[in-house]
Amino acid sequence: MTNDETDRIRKDWDSQANSWYEQRESLLTASRPIHEWLVDHLEPMDSQRVLEIAAGPGDTGFLAARRLGNGRLVSTDIAPAMVEAARNRGVELAIENADYRVLDAQAMDVNDASFDGVLCRWGFMLMPDPAAAFCECRRVLVPGGRLVFAVFTGPDENPFASIPARILVEAGHLAPATPRWQPGILALADRSRLQTLLDGAGFASTHIEGVDMTWTFIDADAYWAFLVDLTALGPLLRSLSEEARNAVRDAINLRLVSFTRADGIELPSRCWGGIAIR
Ligand SMILES: C[S@@+](CC[C@H](N)C(=O)[O-])C[C@H]1O[C@@H](n2cnc3c(N)ncnc32)[C@H](O)[C@@H]1O
Repeated sequence: MTNDETDRIRKDWDSQANSWYEQRESLLTASRPIHEWLVDHLEPMDSQRVLEIAAGPGDTGFLAARRLGNGRLVSTDIAPAMVEAARNRGVELAIENADYRVLDAQAMDVNDASFDGVLCRWGFMLMPDPAAAFCECRRVLVPGGRLVFAVFTGPDENPFASIPARILVEAGHLAPATPRWQPGILALADRSRLQTLLDGAGFASTHIEGVDMTWTFIDADAYWAFLVDLTALGPLLRSLSEEARNAVRDAINLRLVSFTRADGIELPSRCWGGIAIR
């Protein structure tokens, strides 16, 4: 990965950090099934050390921290503003057994075999080199330690991401997917690719299963704000001219009709939940 790519990713996520912090409660509510699946399968225990990578505002790790007793959570992210958001969130939740660090998950400045567990929700698919990140996770785990993570599955199961992505491709604002690896919200949808990455990292045993959730929005404006302020498509949407942005927004609204209910918009979503044991 080049320094330019790292800088761009860091800047993009720094620019989203305030919104992630502001939306923390609604994000937590929507994502509770995957959030709980991750922490239940991590099986955190008293006195263990847990590393969360790509933690954003840190809520998944904080749920684990509550079960660590005298143990410790290290909450990390590549974007310094996200690390600050997590620090603020930790204070707000009165989490006392957490440390915070800026850390690139693809090249961790962390000793070998120094954690009992690693957590990562919605991170690996956004990295230019997920193979390196999986290898790093294995390296920092103690023998028998576990990585528990979530990435999104395919476009049909995740219209919240595939509707805008298809429209951006059709309008020529986004390059169509190619066999070459490109990071993105749905980039690790292919289960066999995910399995190959886990096998390549050398984990002793692995398990992958589907976990469902639903994104709900009070109206199309709230969904648009979510796309622009919180998702990996946000920087691209913000960079469009007003005319192009309005055209994309109108096209998205047309495709939301079948997901509109009396009290708002409901977009189903599915993740691959993964467990990998060193
Ligand atoms: C979609 S957000 C998920 C945040 C959080 N895990 C959650 O589920 O609420 C993706 C996060 O990955 C982080 N990220 C992207 N590339 C990274 C990398 N190479 N190393 C560490 N964090 C990274 C971003 O800064 C961002 O905070």
